[in-house]
Amino acid sequence: MKVVITRKIPETIKHMLDSACTTYMWAEELEPMPRHLLLEQAVDADAIFTNVSDRIDKELFQAAPRLKVVSTMAVGVDNIDLAEASRRGIPVGHTPGVLSEAVADLTFTLMLAAARKVVEGMAYIREGRWRGWGPMLFTGRDVYRATIGIIGMGSIGRGVARRAAGFDMRILYHNRKPDPEAEKQLGAEYCDLDTLLRQSDYVVMLAPATPETHRMIGARQFALMKPNAIFVNTSRGGNVDEQALVRALKGGTIWGAGLDVFEQEPIRPDHPLLALDNVVTLPHIGSATLDTRMNMAALAAQNILHVLNGEPPAHCANR
Ligand code: DGY
Repeated sequence: MKVVITRKIPETIKHMLDSACTTYMWAEELEPMPRHLLLEQAVDADAIFTNVSDRIDKELFQAAPRLKVVSTMAVGVDNIDLAEASRRGIPVGHTPGVLSEAVADLTFTLMLAAARKVVEGMAYIREGRWRGWGPMLFTGRDVYRATIGIIGMGSIGRGVARRAAGFDMRILYHNRKPDPEAEKQLGAEYCDLDTLLRQSDYVVMLAPATPETHRMIGARQFALMKPNAIFVNTSRGGNVDEQALVRALKGGTIWGAGLDVFEQEPIRPDHPLLALDNVVTLPHIGSATLDTRMNMAALAAQNILHVLNGEPPAHCANR
């Protein structure tokens, strides 16, 4: 059995696969495996260990006649043609659950950093511009007791809601269906999207990327938000119209943003979003704690081993 691993992964995880299969690993940590090489290596692959930056599409499935399983080290599967995988009877493993708390932490980090101008304040000191304490210097926004609006109440959404409850926040949420648990345990209130946008001080995007959520936040939605609203996105960049976001931030339609994801990743260094002071940006590191990334990689490897042993993956995105 041959497993193609499309990015350098920790040795201990590679050993899990080496002990049962032949592995080919693209040995770069930050550079995606070149497409032509992936197509070449897929020819005799039984499994592909992938990540958010590979495109697993029809062309790739066609190039891999022996393929039995695709396993991504991520919860999001928007880079994988699930319908094509299903048509071919190929299970797609992914890693929900193990990353929820880490992503919820980073979501809160972005809310707090944007609200309290953490990045601007740090640059101010480093650049030697700090002359003394000022009564209104870097005044930000309260998080405590503010209203948070969570778009997408899955396990990450519930993690964010638990943290929000600790900050005594009013919790609104919008989801495909109501979540009675979150309502009972955390006092979260289900509402339609427009109500959430109108009433929230923090609008947090956590919905998965699907055709229905593509650019679901655009000019109309920003116009509905409060002028003091902070928009946070730790799901996928494609859920937001970035040009509309730039206009909303520049024109004062909303107050600020915290972004871990972008329409195009890596984002171009000259992208207008990066020139704005009221935005905190991170390079898609929502789940990037050492423990969480190790757990994700281990689960992705287990999903492959299960299938190669004739069992279903522990977590399957297309069943
Ligand atoms: C995911 O799991 O989908 C994340 O975006 C990767 O960290």
